[in-house]
Amino acid sequence: MLRCSLTLLSTLLLLFLHRSAGDPNEAKILRQFRSGLDNPELLPWEEGGDDPCGWKYIICDSSSKRVTQIQAKGLNLTGPVPQNLNALTSLMNVGLQNNRLSGPLPSLRGLSGLKYAFLDYNNFDSIPSDFFDGLDSLEVLALDHNALNATTGGWTFPSALQGSTQLTNLSCMGCNLVGPLPRFLGSMNSLSFLKLSNNNLTGEIPATLNGSALQVLWLNNQQGDGLSGTIDVVATMLSLTSLWLHGNAFSGSIPDKIGDLSSLKDLDLNGNNLAGFVPPGLADIKLDNLDLNNNHLMGPIPNFKAVKLSYDFNDFCVSKPGVPCAFEVMALLGFLGGLRYPRNLVDSWTGNDPCGGHWLGINCDADGKVSMINLHNFNLSGSLSPSVANLGSLVEIRLGGNDISGAVPGNWTSLVSLKVLDLSGNNISPPLPVFKNGLKPVVVENPLFNGNQSPSSGNGNSSGGSGNVEPAPANVNSGSGESHESNKSKRKGLVSIVAPIVGVAAVAFLLIPLYAYCVRRRKGGLKASASLVIHPRDPSDSDSAVKIAVANNTNGSISTLTGSGSGSRNSSGIGESHVIEAGNLRISVQVLKNVTKNFAPENELGRGGFGVVYKGELDDGTKIAVKRMEAGVISSKALDEFQAEIAVLSKVRHRHLVSLLGYSIEGNERILVYEYMPQGALSKHLFHWKSHELEPLSWKRRLNIALDVARGMEYLHTLAHQSFIHRDLKPSNILLADDFRAKVSDFGLVKLAPEGEQKSVVTRLAGTFGYLAPEYAVTGKITTKADVFSFGVVLMELLTGLMALDENRPEESQYLAAWFWHIKSDKKKLMAAIDTALDVKEETFESISIIAELAGHCTAREPSQRPDMGHAVNVLAPLVEKWKPFDDDIEEYSGIDYSLPLNQMVKGWQEAEGKDSSYMNLEDSKGSIPARPTGFADSFTSADGR
Ligand SMILES: *[C@@H]1O[C@H](CO)[C@@H](O)[C@H](O)[C@H]1NC(C)=O
Ligand SMILES: *[C@@H]1O[C@H](CO)[C@@H](O)[C@H](O)[C@H]1NC(C)=O
Ligand SMILES: *[C@@H]1O[C@H](CO)[C@@H](O)[C@H](O)[C@H]1NC(C)=O
Ligand SMILES: *[C@@H]1O[C@H](CO)[C@@H](O)[C@H](O)[C@H]1NC(C)=O
Ligand SMILES: *[C@@H]1O[C@H](CO)[C@@H](O)[C@H](O)[C@H]1NC(C)=O
Repeated sequence: MLRCSLTLLSTLLLLFLHRSAGDPNEAKILRQFRSGLDNPELLPWEEGGDDPCGWKYIICDSSSKRVTQIQAKGLNLTGPVPQNLNALTSLMNVGLQNNRLSGPLPSLRGLSGLKYAFLDYNNFDSIPSDFFDGLDSLEVLALDHNALNATTGGWTFPSALQGSTQLTNLSCMGCNLVGPLPRFLGSMNSLSFLKLSNNNLTGEIPATLNGSALQVLWLNNQQGDGLSGTIDVVATMLSLTSLWLHGNAFSGSIPDKIGDLSSLKDLDLNGNNLAGFVPPGLADIKLDNLDLNNNHLMGPIPNFKAVKLSYDFNDFCVSKPGVPCAFEVMALLGFLGGLRYPRNLVDSWTGNDPCGGHWLGINCDADGKVSMINLHNFNLSGSLSPSVANLGSLVEIRLGGNDISGAVPGNWTSLVSLKVLDLSGNNISPPLPVFKNGLKPVVVENPLFNGNQSPSSGNGNSSGGSGNVEPAPANVNSGSGESHESNKSKRKGLVSIVAPIVGVAAVAFLLIPLYAYCVRRRKGGLKASASLVIHPRDPSDSDSAVKIAVANNTNGSISTLTGSGSGSRNSSGIGESHVIEAGNLRISVQVLKNVTKNFAPENELGRGGFGVVYKGELDDGTKIAVKRMEAGVISSKALDEFQAEIAVLSKVRHRHLVSLLGYSIEGNERILVYEYMPQGALSKHLFHWKSHELEPLSWKRRLNIALDVARGMEYLHTLAHQSFIHRDLKPSNILLADDFRAKVSDFGLVKLAPEGEQKSVVTRLAGTFGYLAPEYAVTGKITTKADVFSFGVVLMELLTGLMALDENRPEESQYLAAWFWHIKSDKKKLMAAIDTALDVKEETFESISIIAELAGHCTAREPSQRPDMGHAVNVLAPLVEKWKPFDDDIEEYSGIDYSLPLNQMVKGWQEAEGKDSSYMNLEDSKGSIPARPTGFADSFTSADGR
């Protein structure tokens, strides 16, 4: 007996001693992990040893000597992880994030002591179905940025996850989740941080999340259809501090009770289909950040208390916060709310004047009062709003043939002028209110009224609706200032996105070329919260090396121009070609199809990352350029630029800025219409004239172009009502008219400059290498002086005929700006550097020196030492005058009347241009320029030089 016990004891002792030396089996698994890696040397684990407890990155329990932690984050470990990792049964904490681990994720099945699992930012490609089984103690799980099960159609959380009742942090951004959110998330009571951005989730936010204690809920930027349904349930999550729902397809209105979320600091609803009024409670929350852009919010803009705020691209009645809407508008929007904001009406009922002619189904009397609501057969549901009672001028309400339910509001009886109330063919419930004037509502074919209750009235026959109830096509020609107003409200969109540059080491003022190289080498390699993206627009842009944008990718700005536009309306009424909506830059796609012969290939002017640019010709021969975004490139970035371009160009008008004549947003179509610039981009004439069989630009023309650009930029910086920064000034964005006068184009990257002289704004880095000002490249801080720098580089290009950055040149001159600085003060060297296509005479040299000086001044390293564009204009103007005196021109906008149909508008613009174009008659324009039609812009020119 005693002996037996002793044996047992010694066995236990042996076992214990053995344990205290670490578990050879655990060592084996870890060594297997190490040897499977492409870079095992990164784990300095002794080869033969049996005790992993002393190894770097491994932590053991001090008494059991079992491995409890692997902490090997951010080591660049490359390769697979052993599938039997869960044989390390005491694991509590796995930190393998930020490596390049690949292959299948190991199952964590049965790791009942595991609390923390960080597997995010790797290249794992699949997740086993039993991954979540038995994770009883799990508190934090991060799987972000692994394209899991991508090739097999994505994945969803298995129900086993429910067993992890302690889970507080669940983070799976960009990990290929598909389908609806599981309902069981609502029963995970510990869950506080749920981050599922950038997946392929669809369906609604589960109602089971009602009253959830979530503090952070990120469901933004779902690819594909996105999440849908209402967002009502979020108003019950009273602990929320950060709610990101942007980039989805949520609809309905913002819940009234959202004001209950008193801890909320950050709310992003950008790019959904939310409609209706902004609840007063939302305006009162002291948010740090509120983004409501790109929805269909209506009614007045409240005075928001949010610190950082944007609400552009909505359908507010007026563009100024705190200004109430007309009472008719409020009454009708209340009516719309009762019907749950049907999309076709939301798109049409914009602005502050229901009688402006474009409100679908609304007719007005001669006094401009609403007399009829006429929405027969409109597929409406919901109920009738008492707010309609405030429209005392109503004579007829025709709502037959819909699916409206509920009772007729009692206070509708105060509509004393009402003669017709046709509710036939709906689902109205009794009782009907009694109208004092004897009006009998028509309620035939409403199941809840049986035959004898249906009152008979004069025209109480539902067929009465068939003839005249069809809505008249919207009156497209009666102008109103309203759409200008709504354009105005959209313009501020530019300022809204301020994303700090992350990951760019703040090494002050590296040489730019060096910087450019570093960034390019690290393409895609920036860690954590920053990503490097190649600018999508411009693959054929041969005069620029590479376009970049550094964006914070956890909250990449997003935009979804969701308006399906006026499609339903236009398709009914407008067959004739060039009619556009009055006072609006919006043009129907059909019109543009007609003028481009259905986007015929022979009308193609060029193509670029954005899409294709077509030439269009109106009946009267007026030419336009039609830039059509290709469905495949409708990224949120491209949409941002699309919006920015509309916002800026509808605000700034100048003879040296390319005019936007209109745009289309219908379904997936995104189209911009510009004035046609027959000679195409400056870059073509400066760098590629030989291959295009063109004449090189004369010095006079170059001077004129420099002055035109300077004037356009000066206007953009200071003379427009607000100060704008172009951010991408370069020869391929400078377009030439037939007379070689220049206009600046491509406003996709324009930013609104902050008020105040010295202020700068930190932005996503965008633009083109070779033209980027050093302080902008390094710090992302941008002022108008960054444009001045780019302008200086353009001057150098005009002087030398060399592109800003060209790797085929010898090392020291690859980067034009740096090289030019070395040679500009040396007359001999400068002369040698001048474009050989220029015939430089002594008299020309004087102006060349002045321009060289100006170019240097504009590219001074310190932004404060650079002049402003006004100075450049002052330097250039006398030089140009010397060559050909001309009347000083009027710098203000050319007076295009935007209420005219497109063809008249274009004509008007041309006439305005023509008036002061006489001075442009350069003496050498004697037909030396080949008359072949050329591209619109190099940016859109295909590689084959078309
Ligand atoms: C990471 O490892 C890969 C493959 O082993 C190697 O090519 C790459 O240069 C490494 N990166 C860094 C930053 O060490
Ligand atoms: C992921 O894909 C693998 C392989 O197709 C499959 O076995 C597994 O069940 C999927 N994971 C989930 C969680 O559905
Ligand atoms: C859980 O997530 C929140 C919010 O991101 C974070 O502050 C917290 O540190 C996380 N907890 C753990 C244990 O990682
Ligand atoms: C996610 O959605 C995108 C866009 O619709 C689609 O291209 C992709 O294949 C989807 N991924 C999965 C895993 O379904
Ligand atoms: C009808 O009722 C609504 C809601 O109760 C109210 O706002 C409105 O003022 C009423 N209108 C009239 C004319 O009584």
